Amino acid sequence: MPFSYKNDHQIYRSDYQAPHFKVHNYELTITLDPTQTQIAGKFELQFNDTCQAPFEIKLHGSNELVLTQIFIDEKPLDPSEYIFDNNHLVLILSQKNNVIEIINTIDPSSNTALSGIYLSNEMFFSDCEPQGFRNITYFFDRPDVMTNYRVKLIADKKYPVLLSNGNLIEEGEYSQTAHYAIWEDPFFKPTYLFAIVAGDLEYIEDTHIRPDGKPVRLRVYADKKDIHRCQFSLDSLKKAMKWDEERFNLVCDLDYYNLVAVDDFNSGAMENKGLNLFNTSCILATPETATDNEFNFVEAVVGHEYFHNWTGNRITCQDWFNLSLKEGLTVFREQEFISQEQHPGIRRIEDVNFLRTYQFPYDQGPLSHAVRPDAVGSIENIYTTTTYEKGAEIIRLYQTILGKEGFDKGFQRYIKEFDGMAATVDDFYQAMKSENPRLFDSFPLWYSQRGTPILKAATHYDADKKELRLSLKQSLYDPISKALQNPMPIPVKYALFSQKGEILLEETFTLTTHEQCLVFHNIEELPVISLLRDFSAPVVLDYDYSLAELKTLIAYETDYFAKWEALQNLVIKVVFSQELSKTQMAHLIADAFEPLFEFAYQDPAFCALLLTFADDGYYLGLMETENILSLRHTREKIETHIATRFKEEWLKLYHDFQDDHVDSRAIKNIALQFLSFLPECQALITEQYKTATNMTDISWALKYAVWQDIPQKEAMIQDYYEKYQDYSTLIDRWFGLQERNPHLTMETLDKIVNHPGFNRQNPNRARAIVGAIGRNRYALAKIGTPLYQWIANEILIIDAINSVTAARLITPFTKLARLPNPLQTEVTAIINGMMKAPNISNNLFDQLKRILQ
Ligand code: PHE
Ligand code: ZN
Repeated sequence: MPFSYKNDHQIYRSDYQAPHFKVHNYELTITLDPTQTQIAGKFELQFNDTCQAPFEIKLHGSNELVLTQIFIDEKPLDPSEYIFDNNHLVLILSQKNNVIEIINTIDPSSNTALSGIYLSNEMFFSDCEPQGFRNITYFFDRPDVMTNYRVKLIADKKYPVLLSNGNLIEEGEYSQTAHYAIWEDPFFKPTYLFAIVAGDLEYIEDTHIRPDGKPVRLRVYADKKDIHRCQFSLDSLKKAMKWDEERFNLVCDLDYYNLVAVDDFNSGAMENKGLNLFNTSCILATPETATDNEFNFVEAVVGHEYFHNWTGNRITCQDWFNLSLKEGLTVFREQEFISQEQHPGIRRIEDVNFLRTYQFPYDQGPLSHAVRPDAVGSIENIYTTTTYEKGAEIIRLYQTILGKEGFDKGFQRYIKEFDGMAATVDDFYQAMKSENPRLFDSFPLWYSQRGTPILKAATHYDADKKELRLSLKQSLYDPISKALQNPMPIPVKYALFSQKGEILLEETFTLTTHEQCLVFHNIEELPVISLLRDFSAPVVLDYDYSLAELKTLIAYETDYFAKWEALQNLVIKVVFSQELSKTQMAHLIADAFEPLFEFAYQDPAFCALLLTFADDGYYLGLMETENILSLRHTREKIETHIATRFKEEWLKLYHDFQDDHVDSRAIKNIALQFLSFLPECQALITEQYKTATNMTDISWALKYAVWQDIPQKEAMIQDYYEKYQDYSTLIDRWFGLQERNPHLTMETLDKIVNHPGFNRQNPNRARAIVGAIGRNRYALAKIGTPLYQWIANEILIIDAINSVTAARLITPFTKLARLPNPLQTEVTAIINGMMKAPNISNNLFDQLKRILQ
């Protein structure tokens, strides 16, 4: 190494040790003040019987804390009686039972990292996952130490709303200018689920009636200016509660359930017990301000946070290596909820698309990690698509292998056996296995082996014997060591179709060894096979469908995913074909599209998805050497051809689906997307923009204007900004247009940085700008080094403000190994330069180090 690393430490799963004590009755008194908030925490600590005196404990803390005083059994400690070890407060105790009281202060106004207690719009919020509690006070900031909390909040009356977890038990006047509220959470919980909110917020409310007739009071709190945009999330919460009762028999365990919207927030939302916090981008929705996709997203996120109440809160994680225990499972539950509330097939396809566009490349790249990793450099850096989305796929594998009934039995056993505990993914597996003894012993390999398996399939039909042979072969090479890994159980859902499109059989076969062959008898004619229906396992399927087979599947598949996939495969086959001319390509795809114009009237939303081409990123991942310029060129040619050839059909769709319905908007806007390639139809874009009364239509029109660079583009951009400048999430969208601005230049970037709306303190804005530019593959390829350097500088500036946000912006650098030279060498130098930055955070450093490894 050319220089020495500053903070190169790893945390190992094998170092885990269960706590040797229990904590009870945590009483927190928090006196809120923007610059000097006082925290007084008191708890009972009881060492296990197996422990011997003297007893040592290590309380987590951080640089943010200023210690005032410590008391043990009401006796103040002298500074000589405790020591600090690297921000940890170490106490040596002589008794088995102790009452410990710690008083300290913090300065929320200087908390730009937004971890712990911080200010947003001059109100107090908190965010503690995974290790933010240590920025509030000294305590056991680890998920397997759980206790009951009683929280007293004291604040000036200019913060009329005072919230914490659990049930409100008392509120009143504290002094002439101050008031207080006491919240008690009867359920034992770890620190990361602790939360407070204090400020001038408004609310809307409703009631959910539980199966036993008892009500839960539901509220959504938001800033006055946003409160009229909260009804949809309140309705979503009610739906989520009902769904969890019906599908999993899980009932809300609190009498009060609050959701709160906050502008400055590191993640999308947080499942704090009874007090879920939401990034405003994930909770506010009205037709005038949110697109239909955003509505769907809000419903999903509200569901997700609520579902954590059982999968995450009642049963939490033993340690952060087991993060997927709660996240994978909760994403899966959210997906099941959405497939019932929304369209039965669309969300599945979107999830697969997301997984393959983001998680697959991530899992092949330098940051690849197992769903349950053995070592990490930073806990914050395991909040990845692998932990969440691949984790959810693994839960789905259980369900696919065991069937819904077997899965539900295993799930109920898990809930019963581990309620109130901190568990691991192995515990979940054991619960499934206990109820389903046939579950494969190799199943847990899905948690420990990183990378995406390749499933190679081949078929051979013997007309004389009327026999079809299907051979399946799996392989997984570790993305970093390149060693061949062990075979895992891979359920393959498949169907056989006759040439006429009738289904001959539908089955699931689970491949458990490296290679197996299936033989089907009495198959009268050459059948068409459809493999990996419903995307039954998170693998790359390598099967060479013929064009004719794909056409049969596009026309006759009944499985949503498989039908969509057949069309995708056809497009891929054509786009990457060596033999076809561009015109031939376009004709082939157009032929496949033709029947869809009628199908649009049956299922417009699904049809809209069928007609949507995958993101560039997906195609780039399939290219040996990524060539965005040639990909764009090819795509444009094909899209223009499809636009021209079906001009009349697109226009008909566009005009037939003008009614105010989400499905109609979906298909109408796909029609507009194709029409936007035709100069003579571009007036439709401006027309739609001008007359639209909902954000879906406005937002698509604006995007097409930018993507096609139409002359009215500037005026539209200006108009949008003027209309929506007071709505921060809408301005994020506006900045986000840079993601696919094909004309991005270094001068544009100067303008952006100098724009009054540019703000690195707000994570949404930072992501909307730096994140979006980092995803602009076209600009990255065209501008090259200066753009990478610009992103690097931005990330470093943001790192000093908020390292969690900075570390999540490094995606463009993860593609390093796939960059052409000399760009690769130059970007390597940029990364090296970043790592030498004097105050680089551990979060960012860890990511960069792994990229260079
Ligand atoms: N646990 C949150 C969720 O999945 C995400 C989150 C991660 C929130 C880290 C805060 C900090 O909903
Ligand atoms: Zn979650």
